[in-house]
Amino acid sequence: MSYAAGVDVGSTQTKAIVVDEDLKIVGRAIIDTGANVVTAAEKAFQAALKNGGIPDEEVEYIVGTGYGRYKVTFGNTQVTEISCHARGAVRMFPGTRTVLDMGGQDTKAIRVRPNGEVVDFCMNDKCAAGTGRFLQAAAVALEIPLPELGPTALRAEKAVTISTTCTVFAESEVLSWLGKGKKIEDILLGVHKSIGTRSMALLRRVGIESEVTFTGGVTRNQGMVQVMNDLLGFPVNVSEESHYMGALGAALFAMDRILASRAPTA
Ligand SMILES: Nc1ncnc2c1ncn2[C@@H]1O[C@H](COP(=O)(O)OP(=O)(O)OP(=O)(O)O)[C@@H](O)[C@H]1O
Ligand SMILES: [Mg+2]
Repeated sequence: MSYAAGVDVGSTQTKAIVVDEDLKIVGRAIIDTGANVVTAAEKAFQAALKNGGIPDEEVEYIVGTGYGRYKVTFGNTQVTEISCHARGAVRMFPGTRTVLDMGGQDTKAIRVRPNGEVVDFCMNDKCAAGTGRFLQAAAVALEIPLPELGPTALRAEKAVTISTTCTVFAESEVLSWLGKGKKIEDILLGVHKSIGTRSMALLRRVGIESEVTFTGGVTRNQGMVQVMNDLLGFPVNVSEESHYMGALGAALFAMDRILASRAPTA
């Protein structure tokens, strides 16, 4: 049995996935990227092997993706994260026509063909206001652990309107609303809505076609999932695997190479 791996070195977290020849996920790992990107890629890959109990030498092909894809020094090739999220999303949810990837630093809207090929994509330019970074800034300002953000926002009665368009000012705006006596949950729902509205603008630019599959680390935030469902008017596809979607796509591209190398030449 041969295995293929995908390593998605994101700006915030590094994800690794190992698949077998039946395209089943057999190992996975996620770690914070931190300052040493090369080490993060290696650690995530090794942790995924350990998770699946797979010996290093049985992994025949490795694809690197994400902003640090060229730092996957042990990788055989690189594929852009747009292509990888699209591929992973269509594998997990075959009805996917639109992908929304919310990561730590970037949010991307991608329109895909039924086979997972990218038709068009659009991302936030140089601004983290519609991304996980904005949520992290709010978490720090409100002294709430990241996993509590979504559940807290879902307890809101009336969202506060967040007007800042810049992550740098998010913290001060959040604190100023606190100072004016607004409830933490109402402020947080406002933060989630502001990110959701920005994501809707990106999605509209590529054209929203159902089904919409939500990928990236922000999918772990139930509040964000709910806000996207409300804004779209129908539920997004989301699963436990959603944070790994880019790494999964990369692993699938890697398995393509293995299988292609075996195909008889005419
Ligand atoms: N348990 C959790 N609860 C809530 N949010 C989470 C959780 N884990 C991660 N996140 C969110 O996911 C983000 C990281 O997502 P992801 O790993 O997709 O980013 P990335 O790929 O490193 O970034 P990018 O694609 O922008 O380079 C964090 O910024 C955080 O907002
Ligand atoms: Mg990413």
